[in-house]
Amino acid sequence: MCGIVGYIGSKQAYPIIINGLKRLEYRGYDSAGICVVSETPFTAKCKGKVSDLENFIGDHSVAGTIGIGHTRWATHGEPNDTNAHPHESMNGTFILIHNGIIENYGILKSKLEKRGYIFKSETDTEVLVNLIEYIYLKGNVTPEIAVRLALTKVVGAYGIAVICRDEVDTLIAARKGSPLVVGVGDGEYYVASDATPIVEFTNSVIFLNDNDVAILKRNEMVLKTIYNEALEPNIQTLDLDIEAIEKGGFDHFMLKEIFEQPRSIHDTFRGRVSTNPFDIHLGGLYKVIPNLVDAKRIILIGCGTSWHAALVGEYLLEDLARIPVEVEYASEFRYRHPIIYKDDVVIAISQSGETADTLAAIRMAKQAGAMVLGICNVVGSSIPRETHAGVYTHAGPEIGVASTKAFTAQVTVLIMMAILLGRKKGEINDDRYNELINELANVPDKIEKILQADPLILEISKRFKDATNFLYLGRGYYFPVALEGALKLKEISYIHAEGYPAAEMKHGPIALIDDTMPVVVIATKDNSYEKIVSNIQEVKARKGVIIAIVTEGDTVIKQMADYVIEIPEAGEVVGALLSVVPLQMLSYHIALLRGCNVDQPRNLAKSVTVE
Ligand code: G6P
Repeated sequence: MCGIVGYIGSKQAYPIIINGLKRLEYRGYDSAGICVVSETPFTAKCKGKVSDLENFIGDHSVAGTIGIGHTRWATHGEPNDTNAHPHESMNGTFILIHNGIIENYGILKSKLEKRGYIFKSETDTEVLVNLIEYIYLKGNVTPEIAVRLALTKVVGAYGIAVICRDEVDTLIAARKGSPLVVGVGDGEYYVASDATPIVEFTNSVIFLNDNDVAILKRNEMVLKTIYNEALEPNIQTLDLDIEAIEKGGFDHFMLKEIFEQPRSIHDTFRGRVSTNPFDIHLGGLYKVIPNLVDAKRIILIGCGTSWHAALVGEYLLEDLARIPVEVEYASEFRYRHPIIYKDDVVIAISQSGETADTLAAIRMAKQAGAMVLGICNVVGSSIPRETHAGVYTHAGPEIGVASTKAFTAQVTVLIMMAILLGRKKGEINDDRYNELINELANVPDKIEKILQADPLILEISKRFKDATNFLYLGRGYYFPVALEGALKLKEISYIHAEGYPAAEMKHGPIALIDDTMPVVVIATKDNSYEKIVSNIQEVKARKGVIIAIVTEGDTVIKQMADYVIEIPEAGEVVGALLSVVPLQMLSYHIALLRGCNVDQPRNLAKSVTVE
């Protein structure tokens, strides 16, 4: 978490850094700060968002063509002005911004304290900047050597950008564990946690690897490891459209991303699914298809919404491809000494491709000898670079902190994979294959129709905006959708919500139901329709208020439910894609009516790069 931006060149650094930070605010937004250097460094930082920082700086002229900026998601030390970045070393020689956690900061801090260092903040970052300064002053070395040596002493994760007061025409950036991209311009360089602050200036980028250090001057870049081994820069060309990272006329990124889903799902299967002739081709998996077909087991790992997509994947892969699947929270998997066989295929699902626990879990699975694949959205991020193969979701940048289009894109990839593997394994005959592909191809149009229910969903939201608890129920493929619906509501409206398998309700949550309890039930006409109808009756018998997601034309549930939202008829295999959309819209409207910041909910960050 935390977003960092740096610039060195001939343009004014301040607007570049401020706009870059705004693009990175999804990574954290509890405090922000900048340092811009003309002859001497000017630093400003404060609690709050980047706009608060702008107000704080006010009319003060911030001139200079080198600078760094930071938007924070607190790990060590509460969000306040002092703990905000940049941090300056005790004698003012170095100014540093940091994304990550210095795990051995306690030991380093007490060593520095014994040598006379006094700390102003509670952060691990201030320890690092002081360590760099200590090595620099004590060892009489160059700033670059001081940075590299200090980083060899650090345990933990970092993406950093550093300026030394004695060498103000150099920007040093380094990475381990936390992502960092260098943008290569004409006589200028950019540094950022991801490419979004950079793309409007250049599409030539270098994704730094762990232990890389970039020493940037206006007309020169030296790339090496922290151990002083020279590296050849691998400059890649990014295909990222600036419009894709703007709001495009919508009030919020989340709303834009919800409404983009017909297109983003189409983008996910574009060029991979054909209906004439019926075929599915996943180029990224081409070489590993035999491993997947022969896999004794697939282990799907992820966090948050990506974990919910993994749960849908379990239903899909077991149902269509008949491969046993286990779904794991990455954070549990990596620490619980799991059994991993060499013929297991481990698939990491991640929007950002940077989630620390998911990354650590795939490293562990790789070490155990398993084939490791990724389903990720951010091109060039760490997980795709560390896995044996994988599939990009191509949903485009997702900026709203609550994930929407990334989830449906992940599920779309899993549907394609399950159909493809089912076919390769002979579990799906021609007719079923064609039928499934058709189902998938029709999803964008069906979602377009669901989006037209927005005014109805707004009305329902008005009725429930003051509720304090919600229950979400679903069966089969719709159980993970119930979990995801509940998560969306919690994340952005701060209403307590629980997702449950509808049949399990009788083993606990039914005790919560009274006439104030809204119960959202996904009750489409599928295999378990009759059973879910019974579950609805059980809720009604206890005076619960039912909001049902039903198949278009359903008359039975209409008579029982208090509110119904219709979605077009579709096979169960694509059911999660359709039924999750009204739940996203419901959360969005409720959160907005409650006055919540839907794009930047409190305490959350989009990319969780700390464990
Ligand atoms: C955070 C985000 C969630 C996301 C989860 C996993 O909690 O707020 O929206 O689902 O991380 O992130 P990933 O990038 O790995 O999908």
